[in-house]
Amino acid sequence: MYIRMAEPKDADAIARIYNQGIEGRSATFETTLRAADDMRGRIEAAERYPLLVMLDDADQVVAWAGLSSYRPRACYDGVADFSIYLERSARGRGLGRPLLNALLAEAEARGFWKVLSRIFTFNEASLALCRACGFRQVGVYEKHACLEGQWLDCAIVERLFPSNQPT
Ligand SMILES: CC(C)(COP(=O)(O)OP(=O)(O)OC[C@H]1O[C@@H](n2cnc3c(N)ncnc32)[C@H](O)[C@@H]1OP(=O)(O)O)[C@@H](O)C(=O)NCCC(=O)NCCS
Repeated sequence: MYIRMAEPKDADAIARIYNQGIEGRSATFETTLRAADDMRGRIEAAERYPLLVMLDDADQVVAWAGLSSYRPRACYDGVADFSIYLERSARGRGLGRPLLNALLAEAEARGFWKVLSRIFTFNEASLALCRACGFRQVGVYEKHACLEGQWLDCAIVERLFPSNQPT
């Protein structure tokens, strides 16, 4: 396995893996499936918001993780949301940790002072992964939004990089 920045040729694999996560209904409120073209813009925006892929020994993309804008207001420029998605067959093998740690290292190197996300409270794997990568659980948004008729709670998690905080 190795990790590198996403390239335009990875768009198909990134969309396919994201769609598995969307269809699983345990990772995101999103229900609209993505095409490769939808992911290309995100790959091109990676100078500010890194998008990483993990590849197996056969050079196939098995996972991706990326940052995205938290809020457009200038005061939040140093805060980013993160996402991580592993192909179904790659889950539960400890691959999430090195990928998320690589993304956090990129975030810190680029000057972000905080990376955060919201995680369904029943997504035990994601919560455990975040704990292992140094995130703190801030609290729980109750009934944050509705997914297929069910109101779901989301844990808010954050990881700070204090040395990047402007004084
Ligand atoms: C969530 C995800 C990124 C985790 O990555 P992973 O490589 O599968 O997870 P790991 O094998 O590294 O396991 C991480 C931790 O969760 C635990 N875990 C894994 N699957 C679990 C499960 N189904 N229930 C409870 N704990 C679980 C592991 O024991 C491990 O804990 P540990 O570090 O204390 O040993 C991955 O499963 C995934 O892509 N899921 C679908 C998309 C998704 O949910 N993305 C996150 C959106 S917030």
